[in-house]
Amino acid sequence: MISRRRFLGGALGAGVLAGCSSDPGQGGQLLRSKASLPEPFQVPLTQPPVLAPGAGGRVRLAARAAEQELLPGLHTPVLGYDGIFPGPTLEVTRGRPVALEYTSDLPVPTVVHLHGGTTPAASDGFPTDLVQPGATRTYDYPLDQRAATLWYHDHRMDFTGPAVYRGLAGFMLIRDDEEDRLDLPRDERELVLMVTDRAFHADGTLDYPAMDVSMTGMPGVRDDYVEGVTGDVVLVNGRPWPSHEVGAARHRLRWLNASNSRRYRLRLDPPPPGGGGFVRIGTDGGLLASAAGSDVLTLAPGERVDALVDFGRYPVGSRVTVRNDLGRGPTAGVMRFVVARRAADASRPVTAGTRLSEIEPLSWSAATPRRRFRFRRGVIGEHRGWLINDEPFDPDRPVARVPAGRTEVWRMVTDIHHPVHLHLAPFQLAGQPEAGWKDTVDLLPGQTADLVVRFPDHPGRYVLHCHNLEHEDMAMMARFDVV
Ligand code: C2O
Ligand code: CU
Repeated sequence: MISRRRFLGGALGAGVLAGCSSDPGQGGQLLRSKASLPEPFQVPLTQPPVLAPGAGGRVRLAARAAEQELLPGLHTPVLGYDGIFPGPTLEVTRGRPVALEYTSDLPVPTVVHLHGGTTPAASDGFPTDLVQPGATRTYDYPLDQRAATLWYHDHRMDFTGPAVYRGLAGFMLIRDDEEDRLDLPRDERELVLMVTDRAFHADGTLDYPAMDVSMTGMPGVRDDYVEGVTGDVVLVNGRPWPSHEVGAARHRLRWLNASNSRRYRLRLDPPPPGGGGFVRIGTDGGLLASAAGSDVLTLAPGERVDALVDFGRYPVGSRVTVRNDLGRGPTAGVMRFVVARRAADASRPVTAGTRLSEIEPLSWSAATPRRRFRFRRGVIGEHRGWLINDEPFDPDRPVARVPAGRTEVWRMVTDIHHPVHLHLAPFQLAGQPEAGWKDTVDLLPGQTADLVVRFPDHPGRYVLHCHNLEHEDMAMMARFDVV
C-alpha cells in the first residue's frame, strides 16, 4: 500500500486555504455539470425496492457496476447494491438478527457499514476490513435496537467518497412495536427520501474530482475540492428534482442526506396555512420523545430526519415544492409534491407536542468531559489534509479505549463545519434532551459540543469520523476500541 504521507502530500492547495466556497452554508466546492439538465419537478419520484430477510434472517446483496438513467435520456455508469442506486431498502424488525451475505462483483475492494447500527466489531465494516473483488462476506446484525432509519454504504479507507458518489448507498428501516402502536402513515404514505447532489459530464457519466479516477491508486480529491465536493444536480432516490403526486393526507417522509459534503435546509413552499409544515417525529436513532413542529429541516451528511407532512392542510391541486435554503440556483430546489386528490386519513393525528416515545436521559456532568476531539484542517509532516487531535487516521492506533457499558462525555471542537459520526454507540447531546438519540451531529464552524455516549458491550475496534466524505477520505477519522 502506498503510504498515506506520500499520497496526501501537496493535496491541500493555497486556493483552498483562501476559502473558495460555493453555496451558503457549504464548505465544499461546487462542481458544475456539462450535461444538459432536465427541467426541475418533471421526473417522477421512485421508491427503492424493498428487500426483506428470508429464512434465518438471511439477506443476499450483490454489488455490481451497472448503468442507470439518472438524467433523462442519458445512461450513467453506477456502482450499485444489486446494481441499483439507491440500493434496495432492507426492511427488518427489532430483535430479529439479520445475516447480510454480501458479494462484491466490483473491480475494487469494498467495505459495507451499517450506519446507525449497534453492530459487533467484526461486522461493523472497519475501513480496512476489505471485501475483495469476487469475494463474499457475511455481516451479522443483531438489530437489538430501536426502530429507526438506518442506511448502509461503502466504507473503504481512503475511497468512501468516490464509492458512495457512484452509488453504493441504501436504506435500512428497523421497525418495532412501539412505533407500530403509533399508527403512523404507512405504505404509499411512507416515503424514504435519499438526498444526494452530483455533477455530470456531457455524456452522462458522473464527474468527481478524484486524484485518481480508477479508485485504486491515489485517494482524495484535487486541490480545489479538499473542503468537499458539491454538485449542481439534486437527486432524490437517484431522480433529479423529482415530482410526486400525493393524496391530501398525512405522509411520513424519512429524509436521509447521503451527499458527500452538501448540507440542506429544507422548507415547504408554500408553507401550509399557519406554518409548521414539518412535524418532526424522529432522528438518526428513531423516535423523538415528543413531536416538534418546524418550518425547516436541516440535514448534514449522514443525518436522518423523520417528519410528517399533512398534505390535507393544502387545497387539492396545490404544488408544494421542497426548497433548500442552503442552495443557490438549481440546488435551491429539491423536489415537489403535487396534492392530486382528496384522501381519507386513518393515521393518528400527530402535532407538535404529541408524546411519541420514552427516551431515557443519559446522566452526565458538564464539568468532566472525559475526552476531547479537535477536528481541524492542518499539516503534520508531509500529511496535509484533515486531522483529529492533530493526527491523520491510523487504523492500527486506537485513540481511546473505552470499557464496555461506561457512559462518557466526549467533547467535539471544530474549525469549520464537520458532521461528526460515531460508530456503534448512539449519543445524546448534552443539554439538548429534545434532540433524541443521534449518531451524527452537524457541528458548525468553531463549535464545541458535548456528546453523552454509553458504549454497548461489543468489544473491538470502531471509528469516529467526519461524515463529509472528502474529509473522511483525507484522514479525518480515528479508531476507538471498546474493551
Ligand atoms: Cu455513514 Cu462511518 O459512516
Ligand atoms: Cu469534516
